[in-house]
Amino acid sequence: MRIKETLLQHQEITERVNTLGQQLTKDYAGKKPVVIGILNGAFIFLADLVRAVELAVEVDFIRVASYGQATESCGSITLTKAPELDLTGKDVLLVEDIVDSGTTMAWLQDYFTTEHQPNSVKTCTLINKNERRAVDVPIDYIGFEIDKGFLVGYGLDCAQSYRNLPQICALGE
Ligand code: IMP
Ligand code: MG
Repeated sequence: MRIKETLLQHQEITERVNTLGQQLTKDYAGKKPVVIGILNGAFIFLADLVRAVELAVEVDFIRVASYGQATESCGSITLTKAPELDLTGKDVLLVEDIVDSGTTMAWLQDYFTTEHQPNSVKTCTLINKNERRAVDVPIDYIGFEIDKGFLVGYGLDCAQSYRNLPQICALGE
């Protein structure tokens, strides 16, 4: 598959990420949230987002396996890199690149709530794709609502390619 069209220019992404950062700054005032990026896709979004938050934050990463080389979720999820910080009593913010079926985010919310003892768990995604949502999962912070196509760039990949594009594009035949 090759790039069909650009859906979000880098400037639009930057502006939206800065707005999300300001919102988080207000919502987490007086707290020190632990921002947890879901590898690999969230690494660029998280890097920009935490720099737009004017609070002390802690940063950690996790990795889950669910997608493989295909563009369809296989539905089964395994944690391949656990968080390393002690999350007891902490305010956890999960940062994802894109929520599609919702399977990954729902699994992660359950994992953090049952396997750790955080004070709170909230979710943030750069892109929310509602059209294929199969699991109802609350998303607290959404960058963009985009339903069309398979997206790449700004951290999002197709079989590990395109992550370094500054903009977000849809793939096509
Ligand atoms: P879900 O479990 O179906 O919500 O899938 C979430 C994961 O699938 C995300 O973390 C992405 O890695 C991947 N994914 C879903 N849609 C896309 C897409 O359009 N482009 C790239 N990755 C995607
Ligand atoms: Mg991902």
